[in-house]
Amino acid sequence: MDPSPETEKQLAAVAAAELVEDGMEVGLGTGSTVVHLLPAIAERGLEIRCVATSVATENQARDLGMPIEDFDELKRLDIAIDGTDQVSPERWLVKGGGAAHTREKIVAAAADRFIVIADSSKPVDRIVAPIPLELHAFGLESTLERLRSELGEVELRRVPRSPDNGVIADYLGEVADPAELAVRLSATPGVVDHGLFPPAMVAEVIIARGAEIERL
Ligand code: 5RP
Repeated sequence: MDPSPETEKQLAAVAAAELVEDGMEVGLGTGSTVVHLLPAIAERGLEIRCVATSVATENQARDLGMPIEDFDELKRLDIAIDGTDQVSPERWLVKGGGAAHTREKIVAAAADRFIVIADSSKPVDRIVAPIPLELHAFGLESTLERLRSELGEVELRRVPRSPDNGVIADYLGEVADPAELAVRLSATPGVVDHGLFPPAMVAEVIIARGAEIERL
């Protein structure tokens, strides 16, 4: 019998945990795949310093006895490991299903190697909406109006604000070219960040398909 998605998440997470070495400074992502990563790292008993991309990850890590530091204490990270909602053949990612994409992108950008872990439902032929957004609360209606008139439909997500007080929304329009959309979203005043992560940011994607591990 083929492993379930949950087993695939665990397999990918365990493979990524093996990339963590003693003395490393490690960025920890967010989500149901990362939930499997933390125990896999913790049980190796390494001396590492970690930053977390969400309160949920921070709480789980602390429960496992993993030291979590203020990000300001660690300017650079050796490695960051995180899940994804979509990964294209070119390695564009869509992240933010858990609304943590802004912090996740900051942590990924600070890492020498950003490793993505995924079950077999995450690879896609082409990136499609929804693309998660974090918006400034200040001027929200004006930002929504600008996005809708210049880019396409945007819907507020019924979730709490981010830990940085950002409002979470989703872009629902066409994604003809992820690079162009990423530039246009980033250039829109009021957009804190979006969930499109460029291929240049990604060192490796570890995908579990059944019992097999595939590396992009
Ligand atoms: C959270 C994220 C997650 O990494 C992404 O949503 C994948 O989540 P999961 O591992 O639960 O499928 O970007 O903001």
